[in-house]
Amino acid sequence: MCGIVAVTGFKNALPLLINGLEKLEYRGYDSAGIAIINSESDNITCNKAEGKLKNLKSLLNKNNIPGTIGIGHTRWATHGKPEVKNAHPHCDSSGTVAVVQNGIIENYQDLKNKLEKEGVVFNSDTDTEVIPHLIQRELNTLGKLNLENNGSTLLVAVRNVITDLEGSYALAVLWAGAPNSLVVARRQAPLIIGLGEGEFMCASDTPAIANFTNIILPMEDEEIALLTPLGVEIYGANNERQYRNPISLNISEQIIDKMNFKHYMLKEIYDQPETAKNWLEKYLIKNSKNGQLEIDFPFDTNFFESIERIEIIACGTSKHAAMVGSFLLEQFAGIPTNVFYASEFRYSPPPLLPNILTIGVTQSGETADTIAAINMEITRRSLVKDENFKPNLIAITNRSDSSIGRQISNIIDIGAGIEIGVAATKTFYAQLLSFYGLAIQFAQIKGTQSKEEISKLILELFKLPPLLEDLIEKHNQSAEKLAHDFFNIKDVVFLGRGINYPIALEGALKLKEISYIHAAGYPAGEMKHGPIALLDKKVPVISIASPGEVFDKVISNAQEAKARDSYLIGIAPKCNGTEIFDYLMTIPESNELISPLLNIIPLQLLSYHIAAHRGLDVDQPRNLAKSVTVE
Ligand code: F6R
Repeated sequence: MCGIVAVTGFKNALPLLINGLEKLEYRGYDSAGIAIINSESDNITCNKAEGKLKNLKSLLNKNNIPGTIGIGHTRWATHGKPEVKNAHPHCDSSGTVAVVQNGIIENYQDLKNKLEKEGVVFNSDTDTEVIPHLIQRELNTLGKLNLENNGSTLLVAVRNVITDLEGSYALAVLWAGAPNSLVVARRQAPLIIGLGEGEFMCASDTPAIANFTNIILPMEDEEIALLTPLGVEIYGANNERQYRNPISLNISEQIIDKMNFKHYMLKEIYDQPETAKNWLEKYLIKNSKNGQLEIDFPFDTNFFESIERIEIIACGTSKHAAMVGSFLLEQFAGIPTNVFYASEFRYSPPPLLPNILTIGVTQSGETADTIAAINMEITRRSLVKDENFKPNLIAITNRSDSSIGRQISNIIDIGAGIEIGVAATKTFYAQLLSFYGLAIQFAQIKGTQSKEEISKLILELFKLPPLLEDLIEKHNQSAEKLAHDFFNIKDVVFLGRGINYPIALEGALKLKEISYIHAAGYPAGEMKHGPIALLDKKVPVISIASPGEVFDKVISNAQEAKARDSYLIGIAPKCNGTEIFDYLMTIPESNELISPLLNIIPLQLLSYHIAAHRGLDVDQPRNLAKSVTVE
């Protein structure tokens, strides 16, 4: 996480840096800072503030710092508390080198120990601070070699330093000795260069650049670049100059208006009927020969035919979408499927099996663990000299221009539009739909479901948008009412079974991440094997009971909770059996397979209203970031 931005060649660097940081604040908001080479003094002027960017802005208090070149950072704390001393940029002891970094330098303690032995005094608890000190040391050595071009000297110094760094990073370096030159470098963290005429920008993500240019050069892993008003030089890991054509950014800067909503999260919950409509328009087509509706993903059908098993790699909310997907792929399409936490898969991958499809799910397309796990899978499969073991890959993402989009060519672009709220809602929805699409396509190609069953499921998907509109309107009110009674609770248990078990997990995750209330999701049948010990009248139980295979079982499990005095909230249609609930958040009756697409709505709204009622920062909850680019 963390967002970095760097500019050179601009008449006035400061507003561009601020604007860039505003667009990157979703990556972390523990502190923010900016360093500019002050054109009046030729020294680096550095300003930092704890907390959100607005604090840095009021510190600057409309004072401009004259300068054409600068770097900025918005932090999600890894090493060192969210305090001013740990805010980036970090400088060397002479204050002539400033660095911003996104990533983790794993061997920083060894490097720090060595520098301290040489007499360097550290001012922060961060891993990053070793970098400016090491660069300054390198510059001193290179100075003795008398290199002429200062920008090139900085480039060589940074290159020498990064060879000693272990871990992942994206960094930007400023040196008062080369007052027009920026050096940027990346390893396993995103960095994109924006090109203008005599003006260049570099940032962790495209929205930070889109205001300035739509011509970009995404940097590849292990690349380092020198940016001056004269142009950009990019070098690969082998130090060879890299030449490639820039690409045009197809998203023009989108000013996302909160409309009349109090928070982006609520707006994004309300966006979901539109999300569903857009997804259906994009991926469902009418077959011109037989008039039937079909899924139209941009992949060759041969690709699907050879697949015998599926593995899905994801984190957090994306993993919950993957779990619903796994249920559909196994139970509807008949393909054995496993879902893995990306962070676990990396260090304990399953044994290699032939004809596997690997699906990476990540709304941001930048989650470090997911990217690394997919890379690992590509590598280990490529090493087997057998056609049946080749990597077959699909990415499900909201950002086809992201790292995963560059890694995998078969992309299901979920097209949910920019999601500002850190807690994922509409992107989760569009991920879910993408799994319905995959399950339908597999069932069609493998012949595991009849045409009628497939058409029935497709028609149910088509009915969603208006159903969702009503559901959101209705439960926005009921959730607000419930929030009034429950905003002070300490623990909540969510129960679901079968295809709705992952929805129970997602309901619990939403509640805890934005309201800071402890919440846990369980498969309802597991309650009696331990978690039931938690229950008493202070612990409400939210139970998802959709008519179908496991309805009676869930109702019995809810009874068991009621017998322990828990207040029972049901997410279910009004039907026989649901009278046991103390409060019913009514869902329209539907095919059980479709029910997750309805059940998630009241859960999102309940979390939202509880957090809003507690007066919390719903869109930027503490300790979280929208894009998790560290391990
Ligand atoms: C929860 C949430 C996170 C993300 C997780 C993975 O609301 O947003 O749990 O789902 O960090 O992020 P992506 O999907 O970007 O890989």
